[in-house]
Amino acid sequence: MYQEIDLDKIDMNAEPPAEEPARQYYFMAKCRQWVREFEGKNGRRPTACIQTFGCQMNARDSEKLLGILSQAGFQETDREEADFVLYNTCTVRDNANQKVYGHLGYLRNLKRRNPDMLIALCGCMMQEKTAVDRIKKSYPFVDIIFGTHNIFKLAELICKRTGCPSGRREMVVDVWDSTEAIVEELPTERKFPFKSGVNIMFGCNNFCSYCIVPYVRGRERSREPEDILAEIRRLVQDGVVEVMLLGQNVNSYGKNLAHPITFAQLLRRVNEIEGLERIRFMTSHPKDLSPELIEAMKDCDKVCRHLHLPLQSGSSRILGVMNRRYTKERYLELVEEIREAMPDISLTTDIIVGFPGETEEDFEETLDVVRRVRYDSAFTFLYSKRTGTPAAAMENQVPEDVAKERFDRLLKEVQGIAGEVCGRDTGTVQKVLVECPDDHQEGYMTGRLSNNTIVHFPGGKDLVGRIVEVRLEEARGFYYMGSRIQDRSACEPC
Ligand code: 5AD
Ligand code: SF4
Repeated sequence: MYQEIDLDKIDMNAEPPAEEPARQYYFMAKCRQWVREFEGKNGRRPTACIQTFGCQMNARDSEKLLGILSQAGFQETDREEADFVLYNTCTVRDNANQKVYGHLGYLRNLKRRNPDMLIALCGCMMQEKTAVDRIKKSYPFVDIIFGTHNIFKLAELICKRTGCPSGRREMVVDVWDSTEAIVEELPTERKFPFKSGVNIMFGCNNFCSYCIVPYVRGRERSREPEDILAEIRRLVQDGVVEVMLLGQNVNSYGKNLAHPITFAQLLRRVNEIEGLERIRFMTSHPKDLSPELIEAMKDCDKVCRHLHLPLQSGSSRILGVMNRRYTKERYLELVEEIREAMPDISLTTDIIVGFPGETEEDFEETLDVVRRVRYDSAFTFLYSKRTGTPAAAMENQVPEDVAKERFDRLLKEVQGIAGEVCGRDTGTVQKVLVECPDDHQEGYMTGRLSNNTIVHFPGGKDLVGRIVEVRLEEARGFYYMGSRIQDRSACEPC
């Protein structure tokens, strides 16, 4: 396991090993030499800043990237005036790409002031040839580009770049089209000590017609259950009480393994891990959500009472063109089955407005589902044309002003309902995992209920990472104000 590898004992005069992860530990050790030379020259360690765009998958990837940089000896910072800046990019919607180009303009200025600064780009946007071509042409000061399939190679790529003879420094570009490999046992550096994402699978096979993910993250690959369980046990030993099992479509987990296992079976096994308190997962495709999974969620006491179930559209016709493979009626039936099994579950969703060909009637169908399901919250998106996806080539694109007007109506509806739904637990006492001090009120802490709703309550920083009982006093829009019920075991005997 990575904790047992002493980088200083690796023989740097030997050739780098061919097999992974040993090869990457060799390059981490080599990076460490570079870091020490930097320290000798500058009297301080080089700083590294990772900026993450996009989803939970990217957030988890960034923890792995930071793990590699920390092993090499970089000092983490959240300021972009750093010696090494890495953007982990997203490309699900065009505005994510535009953000990266905007930031690169800013980095250009920083690099003028600090020519030794290293700039790297990775993630989904780098899997797009057009984006990489544009960066090569218009942003030649970028040092390293890599994609989603080889993030484990960060140390090797840094060595390749820093090893170039100075004056002849060329951009290192290493983007893979696909991979079957899953490299285990690399270091990670968690953002929160008490909770962690855990990848259970990578990629997606669904090819929803608007979505670029299958093209940039590749085909579905599941990790072996034993590797997942071992990672979670290790996390628990390290103080983690909540895990979020991550995959683009967790409901199809395990299908491609030599010994297939269902997501429901995996969930039951994770639930048995001693010391673990909470289990979340993301994302579920409605077409694959089985009765077996509903049963497992109901049975497993650690599985949180929250399900993210992307709707995308309420119109069966549009769902067909989106290639979602369920209808409005099936989705509503599914919601009923879930609520019957777990009446207290909170449901959240993703909705796209302005998909090609969406009529006012189609949009009304979406509003109808929103009113019937009454989501706890919903992420609403304006359809964004992604080159290479089938929907981008459709002729009947919805005019921007029409889509925007629908988007505003949907947002109003979603927010109104979420405000009403949030109050349903007012007055009850619930378990809260305390996450951090409240940003807005001195002496208050912020945590989450099992159903993922945020709660603020008076308390001290010593509570971070603990699960405490809180009375939900007042609902305010999408969060509660609460007061802590003192731990009875901590009371003096009467
Ligand atoms: N345009 C707008 N939203 C999109 N999503 C995915 N692709 C697009 C697109 N081209 C949304 C979906 C998905 C979420 C992560 O992003 O709602 O569930
Ligand atoms: Fe994209 Fe559909 Fe796969 Fe989700 S299930 S990542 S929306 S293709």
